[in-house]
Amino acid sequence: MSTAPIDYLLSRRSVKFVQAPAPSDADLARILQAGMSAPDHGKLQPWRFKLIRGEAIARLMELVFAASERAGRPVAAEKIASNRAWLGKVPLLIALACRIDHSNTKIPEHERMLAVGAAVTNMLNAAHMLGYGAYWSTGLGTYVDEVNEALGFDGLDYRFLGYLAMGTPVRASEPAVRPDHKAFVSEWTGE
Ligand SMILES: Cc1cc2nc3c(=O)[nH]c(=O)nc-3n(C[C@H](O)[C@H](O)[C@H](O)COP(=O)(O)O)c2cc1C
Repeated sequence: MSTAPIDYLLSRRSVKFVQAPAPSDADLARILQAGMSAPDHGKLQPWRFKLIRGEAIARLMELVFAASERAGRPVAAEKIASNRAWLGKVPLLIALACRIDHSNTKIPEHERMLAVGAAVTNMLNAAHMLGYGAYWSTGLGTYVDEVNEALGFDGLDYRFLGYLAMGTPVRASEPAVRPDHKAFVSEWTGE
């Protein structure tokens, strides 16, 4: 029995623990292209993605630990160990950023960030639909300037929004327990 598209959206859940293989080039192209279908006020196309794989992930990790220390926010030894264990298996990280085009003064910054958030959500859903696991994290020095700059996302022109870890799930996930939408919805009639 095939899965209806709506069921993919309803069943998506984040998968932190992934391993090789990463998405194939063709699948990764489709995942990234799904990001391009996001709503985008003013067609500013503010999303920027940087692919980090294999040895580069190990290099990023060491940079994060050293830069966090230099920034006066050292990463605890247990966190270093758990990150090494986790990222040692992750085959692909996608660094996520919003480019701030300063020449446009009409579209507020938060709308540009929302467009990137929508693009990343499309990518999470696309990865899920293709059978991969993906997880959005703002760990790994997301708020350390030196890390942002090393990735090419300096704070003047970019807002760095973390990473997607992506690969093949290490184990099958149980279905997530989700809240009932009714708790968050009310009707406005204007009367
Ligand atoms: C912008 C953003 C940043 C996140 N950063 C982290 C993080 O650093 N650490 C973490 O445990 N979860 C983080 N999360 C939450 C996970 O990505 C994930 O949503 C959560 O584990 C719940 O899983 P679910 O998506 O299946 O509901 C972040 C989510 C978003 C949207």
